[in-house]
Amino acid sequence: MRNPGKSTLPISNTHVREHIPVLAAEIVHWLDVQPGKTYLDATFGFGGHTGLILDAGGRVIALDRDEEAVRVGQEQFALAISSGSLELVHNRFDCLETVVGKRHIAGVLFDLGMSTMQLSSDRGFSFGDESLDMRMDASLGVTAADLVNGLGRRELVKLLETLGEEPFAAKIAEAIVVRRKEKPLTHAHELARLIENTVGRRGRIHPATRVFQALRMAVNDERGQLTRALPQAVSVLGSGGRLAVISFHSLEDRIVKHFGKEQHIQGALMELTTTPIRPSEEEVQTNPSSRSAKMRVFARTLGI
Ligand SMILES: C[S@@+](CC[C@H](N)C(=O)[O-])C[C@H]1O[C@@H](n2cnc3c(N)ncnc32)[C@H](O)[C@@H]1O
Repeated sequence: MRNPGKSTLPISNTHVREHIPVLAAEIVHWLDVQPGKTYLDATFGFGGHTGLILDAGGRVIALDRDEEAVRVGQEQFALAISSGSLELVHNRFDCLETVVGKRHIAGVLFDLGMSTMQLSSDRGFSFGDESLDMRMDASLGVTAADLVNGLGRRELVKLLETLGEEPFAAKIAEAIVVRRKEKPLTHAHELARLIENTVGRRGRIHPATRVFQALRMAVNDERGQLTRALPQAVSVLGSGGRLAVISFHSLEDRIVKHFGKEQHIQGALMELTTTPIRPSEEEVQTNPSSRSAKMRVFARTLGI
């Protein structure tokens, strides 16, 4: 491994960026990466985990629904692509079975949520002066602004409660409804400021964080994507193959946990992590965005 815990992209030397993949050393260990075997990275992002698997001698099929991530990855991993050790595909992970076809996969990784590239992409994922869009995939029809300006008050409350677990959902929805009567909310910073003015600031986390999370999850149907993709991941794994899922909030972790239990009853998966793997204090210090990461790892007990 070039530098455990820290992947300096790329493998070619154009567009070098520093990106720290979450739970880097743990991923290589728990996926049991073996030279020559093929792994599926369902969430390529900056290619941090893909780089680690390649470094350990594995071959990778990688997916990302974000065209920009794939475009940058194709430049950064040009050598791995041309040598045939990496296939990088622009697609959603709920189509992974089609992408993999009949190939045998030794391990599947999901590193859920958004990438730092998306956070700084001017697409409304952060609280800046940027359009309230939040689509990871430009082919999606509905933006965050459409939801904020178009949903009824009750639907807004439900969205913020279920996907954001937002304790001030009703208060925030009311403020949005009042505000949009004057003028639709079109920019991320307008919404962030409105929320801050409505509920105030407590602690280090911005008060709009949960609302932005809820909108992003709804715009990109993130729960639906995960629910549809997990059974496909199991079906492409060979016997003994590993499935690793890194999630960043309890809603996703719950889906993964219940899926694992169901598959265990059917004799298809066994959870290897009795409690989810968390980043070390040291990792959280160097990479604060890893703080809420939880990884569950399963082994395929029956398979192709
Ligand atoms: C947290 S980042 C992954 C970071 C990556 N593991 C790394 O180390 O660079 C999540 C990535 O998954 C992608 N993604 C999210 N949902 C997806 C889906 N349903 N299908 C394919 N890619 C998805 C996002 O576009 C984003 O680039």
